[in-house]
Amino acid sequence: MPQCGEGDRVVRTLSVFFGLQDLLFVPYLSRKPRQSAGFSYLRRLVFRGRAVAVRSVSRGRGSGLEPPPLPDCLVDMPIVTATRLLRFNAAHRVHNPALSDEENTRLFGKCNNPNWHGHNYTLEVSVKGPVDERTGYVIDLGMLRDTVERHVVNVTDHRNFNIDVPYMEGVNPTTENVVVGMWRVLEPVVAPGRLVRLRLWETDNNYVDYEGE
Ligand code: NI
Repeated sequence: MPQCGEGDRVVRTLSVFFGLQDLLFVPYLSRKPRQSAGFSYLRRLVFRGRAVAVRSVSRGRGSGLEPPPLPDCLVDMPIVTATRLLRFNAAHRVHNPALSDEENTRLFGKCNNPNWHGHNYTLEVSVKGPVDERTGYVIDLGMLRDTVERHVVNVTDHRNFNIDVPYMEGVNPTTENVVVGMWRVLEPVVAPGRLVRLRLWETDNNYVDYEGE
């Protein structure tokens, strides 16, 4: 069984990070073939894709192409989702200026109060990736907390979504729109994990999930 090197782990980490395990390294393989376990793993993915294509062409007659087994070190590299909770409060008025006052009142009820109101929010930030052999972490959750505080909480806590939160400028601050705004801020900055879900609680009873779609 081939041994895994640092390069193999980097390959695995990057492919999970970009979510493109089957595609990302195909051009690279053709330029720079190597015999390491990681590249064998990627060749297996390419091989598997080619086998599917051959089977499709042969209309089920069977191609005889079977991928080689994965190296143990890559099979045993677990992919885990880690989540950090952060709390903040903020004010808003849910209001769509394109609609009449009556329609806004009917749609948004108390949240349409023209004099604002506040909520105590809880934000769950989930990142996914391979467990680092040295630390045992997907990501240091203390570092993730610091990142989310710096980029989101510090510009949101004790603020008004309608008038002084930069990533919500010009956007009706429903919980759905807030979580999408937060995603756009956080998605580029949470490496080495990959942001896979934000859950934003507006009340004890209501939350929304966003997974970047
Ligand atoms: Ni509200």
